[in-house]
Amino acid sequence: MDKEYIAKLRLLMEYEAAREQPPEGFPKLPDLPAGRYTDPRFFELEKKYLWKKSWLFAAHIDELPEPGCFITWENTGEPVVIVHDRDGAINAFYNTCRHRGAPVVTEESGRRPSLACKYHGWTYDLTGELISIRDQADFAPDFDFSCRGLIRLRCERFGNLVFLNFDPDAPTLMDWLGPVVDELTEFQFENCRLVGKQRFDLECNWKIAMEANTEVYHVPNIHPTTVAPILDDRRNVNTFYANGHGRMIAPGHQRNGDNERPRTINRSPFPRIDTVSEIGRTCTQSYGLFPNWVSPLSDQTIPPLLFWPTSIRTCRFEVWTMYHGEGSAGALPLDQLPNIWTTPDGAELGQVLQEDTQFGEAIQKSMESTGFEGVPLSYQEARIYHWNQWADRIIGEDNIPEELRVAQVMGDEWLMPNDPRMALIDEGVPG
Ligand code: FES
Ligand SMILES: [Fe+2]
Repeated sequence: MDKEYIAKLRLLMEYEAAREQPPEGFPKLPDLPAGRYTDPRFFELEKKYLWKKSWLFAAHIDELPEPGCFITWENTGEPVVIVHDRDGAINAFYNTCRHRGAPVVTEESGRRPSLACKYHGWTYDLTGELISIRDQADFAPDFDFSCRGLIRLRCERFGNLVFLNFDPDAPTLMDWLGPVVDELTEFQFENCRLVGKQRFDLECNWKIAMEANTEVYHVPNIHPTTVAPILDDRRNVNTFYANGHGRMIAPGHQRNGDNERPRTINRSPFPRIDTVSEIGRTCTQSYGLFPNWVSPLSDQTIPPLLFWPTSIRTCRFEVWTMYHGEGSAGALPLDQLPNIWTTPDGAELGQVLQEDTQFGEAIQKSMESTGFEGVPLSYQEARIYHWNQWADRIIGEDNIPEELRVAQVMGDEWLMPNDPRMALIDEGVPG
């Protein structure tokens, strides 16, 4: 982030603190239909389109560090195997043998020179090609191996992070992320190392859990002693990107005229990412990557939170902790660095996430009651609306029953790099 942009962001924070209503021209947001959380038709549409057409963060390279290493992955229901190829590429396949459909690998992870199905022994190389079958002559002496390879999924990397897409016609991962890629460069995803990954099952729709991490409106109520003291929610700036991505940047509370936020952890034993700009060092900066990644990013950690549906009323919450691999003088070795989001043993969510998830089950129950008619969202919560607009675009508006659709009221004039608020800053309007 360059100095000029940072200066504008600082002015925008002051503009947000001073405004007495949403910015001029910002649309009134219609209520989100209740059924988007509870109607099985919408859940099926998500399954059929949203999870099939979006890039999904699936693995860190440290989970499959060498050629031959593989992990199995089923976060959207369909069994997938992700494999580190001999030439260093990462490949992803449906974990479905082309003979009679047995899983080709049954372990969660491992390392093998080739992938042999345990049922009848059909064997595939690390590029998914079928290389041998037992008793070939009983199929046909001239059996065609070339059309019986494992079925591939799109698999691309952003630094050390591995993303999947079930749609063969999807744009590239970099095109999907658009301007977010340049902004994230300073966090050096290519140098981040995986330290922890834990999973927790929650009793609520996945979007209920995710939305608790997509606005700061809840901060004074839910986090009075944890987040609220270090985050000035009135100075938060939301930014919207194409494809449903979003960003928030909130400074610390002003003390003696500066915006330096107090750190909750001592800096010295932790590796630092030296390229992170002033905003990442002093503000709470968090990106939502559509559809289900939310991550604060700083000069210390890359700790994404991922939300996966396990049914319409339950979800799996994955919490990841990554640190910069290079370390800094005096930093602890990687294996001594703590998980960010959990108790030290990784068994339970830490306090902040317990606060965020505490009402999930109760919200689910009341959303399923007659007393729930829909969701009015404020300007502060506009990233949630933006996400929903893009969800409908990905699903295809015509595929969605009218009573479950959201109106496309936020126009492209609000998408990065456009931002009518920045024009106000240029005109010197901020309070
Ligand atoms: S099902 Fe895999 S070899 Fe038969
Ligand atoms: Fe929160």
